[in-house]
Amino acid sequence: MNSKQLRILKIFIFLAALIPLGRLVWKFYHDALGANPVEVITHSTGDWTMILILTTLSITPLRKLTKQYWLIGIRRMIGLFAFFYGCLHFTTYIWLDKSFDVHEMIKDVYKRPFITAGFTAFVLMIPLALTSTKGWIRRLGKNWQRLHWLIYISGIAAVIHYIWLVKADLREPLRYGSILSVLLIYRVVVWLRNSRKNPTPVALRGRSPEVTES
Ligand code: HEM
Repeated sequence: MNSKQLRILKIFIFLAALIPLGRLVWKFYHDALGANPVEVITHSTGDWTMILILTTLSITPLRKLTKQYWLIGIRRMIGLFAFFYGCLHFTTYIWLDKSFDVHEMIKDVYKRPFITAGFTAFVLMIPLALTSTKGWIRRLGKNWQRLHWLIYISGIAAVIHYIWLVKADLREPLRYGSILSVLLIYRVVVWLRNSRKNPTPVALRGRSPEVTES
């Protein structure tokens, strides 16, 4: 794929990623969010955060398996959209659900442990979003890749969040959990194989991932 095609694809992905938000806004203005709009918004933004985290995580394995190296060019955008929907999800909770009532939120943390797991998942995404610029990628070098393992911990916390919040039907959170497990196992196997085959030469340590990533 050439750079012009990649640019067009990025515009397409950008617009596609805004569709879930657009649907919510449309439903809001047409009074079509049902009897409990806050619940609908919470569930939709939560689902999309989860889906986009898993999509971001699947880019690297997909790129390596298919040798479609241009895929790396869309990973950052999808990751940032995961964070964007995470922000909307969190904002829905603190604003629409709890009306910024800190006491209510603290009570909720004690009463419903899944809130702490969700909060952990969200907080872990913040350093990744903040360091996603080209400048930070260069400045952090190899540490940028290490930092990005956090997304797996965020994904695990998000799956725990979902498992803890559903009361009966565990099928959906377990579906997300199994996709995450496959992606995590793949990355660990590749990482173990690479580090045994060719340990990073001293000369490359600390270099930018664009230079060292295989
Ligand atoms: C990466 C971060 C997060 C992800 C991926 C995530 C994901 C999800 C998912 C998938 C759902 C269920 C949606 C459904 O039932 O269809 C959900 C529900 C919910 N989440 Fe999150 N969440 C995250 C962070 C948070 C945070 C930070 C909070 C609040 C502090 C939060 C509060 C809630 C609440 C209140 C519900 C609805 C619970 C209910 O139905 O009783 N989440 N979230």
